[in-house]
Amino acid sequence: MDKIKIVGGNILNGKIYISGAKNAALPLVCASLLSPNQIVLKNVPQLSDITFLNSLLAYMGLKISEKDEMFDGHLSKTYTYQADDIKELIAPYDFVRKMRASYYVLGPLLARFHHVEFSLPGGCAIGARPMDIHLSSLEQMGAQVEIKNGYVIADAPNGLKGAHIIFSKASVGATCNILMAATLADGITRIENAAKEPEIGNLIDLLTAMGAKIFGRDTSILTIEGVKELHGATHAVIADRIEAGSYAIAAAITKGRIELVNVEAEHLQQPLRTLEKMGVLVEEKENSVVIDARDKTIIGEDIYTDYYPGFPTDLQAQFMALMTIAEGASLVTESIWENRFMHVPELCRMGANINIHGHASAIVRGVKKLSGAPVMATDLRASFALILAGLAAEGETIVNRVYHLDRGYEKLEEKLKAVGANIERIKEAD
Ligand code: EPZ
Repeated sequence: MDKIKIVGGNILNGKIYISGAKNAALPLVCASLLSPNQIVLKNVPQLSDITFLNSLLAYMGLKISEKDEMFDGHLSKTYTYQADDIKELIAPYDFVRKMRASYYVLGPLLARFHHVEFSLPGGCAIGARPMDIHLSSLEQMGAQVEIKNGYVIADAPNGLKGAHIIFSKASVGATCNILMAATLADGITRIENAAKEPEIGNLIDLLTAMGAKIFGRDTSILTIEGVKELHGATHAVIADRIEAGSYAIAAAITKGRIELVNVEAEHLQQPLRTLEKMGVLVEEKENSVVIDARDKTIIGEDIYTDYYPGFPTDLQAQFMALMTIAEGASLVTESIWENRFMHVPELCRMGANINIHGHASAIVRGVKKLSGAPVMATDLRASFALILAGLAAEGETIVNRVYHLDRGYEKLEEKLKAVGANIERIKEAD
């Protein structure tokens, strides 16, 4: 398994181009199952999660082709998907266990083909990750849902029907799934307490371009008027706000200056305001954000993760890495996932002073210096937090289990090297 070696202490300086958003691209790719016509997706990030999802969909019969293309002045991947010959309506365990977001096939397949079998993914390192909201919503739309041998088997022999659905939590995944399902349902679906993450707006834009009728974008009440069929469309994946936030902290933690290019600052308001409170200069430009921490003292600050537009849970670990070297204390409260402090013991091995209280709160007391160490994390964002700690630490840090990072950070070493980091991948046979 590959490792990443970092020698800390370099001040980062330069520009980083932000890739297309993983969490936007995943539902967009699955939306292509809703139409027999071509869906062209631009700015798709090169990540193992996308490769896994493509292989599942190719197994089902989706035709996929790819090409390199310029997007906003940078070379990126454009994929063309065509679901005119879907033969397989089963998502097997071997695919789903590697990539839980394969649950996005549920809504589209049930809506268009009236049947789907999907291996339940089970929990993961950050929490139990139930799917009750997805499944009960589909039941409210008339589906018969059964769980057998670890699989969800869902049928809607006469198609899905519009329904008035109130989510018990503003789930991102359930909002995407039910939105996609409702586009081809008979009648009107109303989702209350829908998630409002920018990735959902990106999905609504693609579905609308395909001929769907959706009202209430960016609000917690979505109304979808079902249509008989959807047509082809061309669409671009939005910039990855979590990748941007992660590199913003790379600038802050090394007391450097990085311009994040291809960023919607609007999507990052809470993290950017938090960085300012921590003493970092933030300059929002039209298509970029400059993070300047040169000669700044980083000050402790509290964060509370919440549904968008609240502070994103997917940046909690990275901010915690910054807090470890801040002046004073910071309180981190994680309200979305029940087990998202797995990075804490690893940060402590590097000299951080963090106490966890219960499963939702941690107090970070800033230390003068971190020191390099071999570390590993159990999820994507926690792994990036260790990269950040390594960039700031004295000496050498080896981050193990790099496959987590490959799921969500395109060209990670290349991007960090280009702004001055001493970082390299150590290739090792499995
Ligand atoms: C998405 O996960 C993201 N993943 C996660 O990013 C992110 O942390 C999360 O949203 C929250 O922002 C993708 O977009 C692929 P949820 P998702 O359904 O959709 C509970 C990363 O690092 N819930 O919004 O699975 C759930 O337990 C990943 O990129 C139910 O109770 O998250 C959680 O407490 C990690 N029942 C809360 O809702 C359900 O049926 C929010 O989960 C569904 C969810």
